[in-house]
Amino acid sequence: KILIIDYGSQYTQLIARRIRELDVYCEIYAWDADSQDIIDFAPTGIVLSGGPESVHLPDAPPLNTDILDLNVPILGICYGMQLLNVHFGGQVEASDFKEFGYAAVELMDQSKLMAQVDDNRIDVWMSHGDQIKQLAPDFKAVAKTGTTEVAAFEYPQKQLFGLQFHPEVEHTEGGRDMLAQFVHTICGCEKQWKTGNIIDTHVDNIRAQVGQDQVLLGLSGGVDSSVVAALLHKAIGDQLVCVFVDTGLLRFKEGDEVMQTMADKMDIRVIRVNAQQQFYSALKGIDDPEQKRRVIGEQFIRIFEQEAKKLDDIKWLAQGTIYPDVIESAGASTGKAHVIKSHHNVGGLPADLALKLIEPLRDLFKDEVRKLGVSLGLPADMVYRHPFPGPGLGVRILGEVKAEYADILARADAIFIEELRRHDLYDKTSQAFAVFLPIKSVGVVGDQRRYEYVIALRAVETIDFMTARWAHLPYEFIDLVSRRIINEIDRVSRVVYDISSKPPATIEWE
Ligand code: XMP
Repeated sequence: KILIIDYGSQYTQLIARRIRELDVYCEIYAWDADSQDIIDFAPTGIVLSGGPESVHLPDAPPLNTDILDLNVPILGICYGMQLLNVHFGGQVEASDFKEFGYAAVELMDQSKLMAQVDDNRIDVWMSHGDQIKQLAPDFKAVAKTGTTEVAAFEYPQKQLFGLQFHPEVEHTEGGRDMLAQFVHTICGCEKQWKTGNIIDTHVDNIRAQVGQDQVLLGLSGGVDSSVVAALLHKAIGDQLVCVFVDTGLLRFKEGDEVMQTMADKMDIRVIRVNAQQQFYSALKGIDDPEQKRRVIGEQFIRIFEQEAKKLDDIKWLAQGTIYPDVIESAGASTGKAHVIKSHHNVGGLPADLALKLIEPLRDLFKDEVRKLGVSLGLPADMVYRHPFPGPGLGVRILGEVKAEYADILARADAIFIEELRRHDLYDKTSQAFAVFLPIKSVGVVGDQRRYEYVIALRAVETIDFMTARWAHLPYEFIDLVSRRIINEIDRVSRVVYDISSKPPATIEWE
């Protein structure tokens, strides 16, 4: 297994993804992770990621030199490469030629890492402001570009490898081969992940794990928990009990749809708890977004616990944890990311239930989870749905949440989504929804003056949801949606379109 040490690169997750695709297990630890944790992880190889800092600046995150004592192969990428160079006596400096984007690399010498790359000239993806000025004495340069004498180095005696460019990025020719060479040949990691018949393997594992016990799952209607439900159902049938809480803050008719799909079609045991009024009461008078999130989270746990207590003989709690949640191991967070919003995930929480945890999707990336869901018979519409926040409409109704507002919003949102699908725009946006603004504006419908609420439409394109661009939907389309909403929902007199990107705005309005 491979350990990735994260120096804050935007590509760190991608490195994990690539290694995973090579059928090798890996985890990501922060650069300041405890040495003992690293030793306990017992990696067979280490990758040092890139990062936004400069190694020659005083506050630059340092190399944890304890990793050198492990005597396992180390591959430094970009910042990671520069760290190795400096530690072994070389120099790094800010370059006059900053390289961002494509660069042509010339392979100069026999390289072990690039043994599988056939060409002598390859196009690679660069993203750096610093470069190696002087190579550490023992290192050997094995590649260069027009502006960098050292685009790659090796020190075979100590199994150290450095790449200035990013092999994990799709645009780097032969990048996959280099990583394959590193993990399979140099580190000798075995291909232990079977992608073959993943469903059968999972089903066998689940059966072996839970035996005759009963398993409880908090079903949110989202992709992950639905796939867990389908998978567990296939494995253990009626030993699975799902609790689905209708919070009154779901999408239009979503509660009924979840029941229809999961209970009626898939024949899964689902207990539906109609807690709409309970949520609205708990949220009465509260308009602070963070407090709303907390209240919704608390209510959810309370209901979930109540239901769990009614069921005898439950031994396991199932969760929809997926691989990206796992690989950034606990305690390994750099603490550099600011908490912008406190996210909560439905289904995960009660710790004092004294249940054992089962997480059958721990090994899978989101797109793999989706494929699995489709193979298990879940409708593609559900599996490829845009993400929906745990607190639901609670954070899309600005300020105080009221049943009346939730009703207006859910219907406006349904119109927007319906038209996106009809115009083949749904899959071209990453997330789209309506937002309810509790302010009134004047309109005229027919000959009637209307003094009613405002609906904002939000649609974004993004890969990672960390940054997002507002979707440039066609004017005619937005026009159509706006007309439909105002015509079909009496309580709305105005529709606006959100043209803020993230950053500086966030995707949700609260
Ligand atoms: P923001 O608004 O922070 O959203 O740009 C990024 C992504 O996260 C989702 N989101 C949440 N998901 N609980 C969740 O489970 C939350 O409290 C929450 N807040 C935002 C949001 O829908 C978007 O996909």
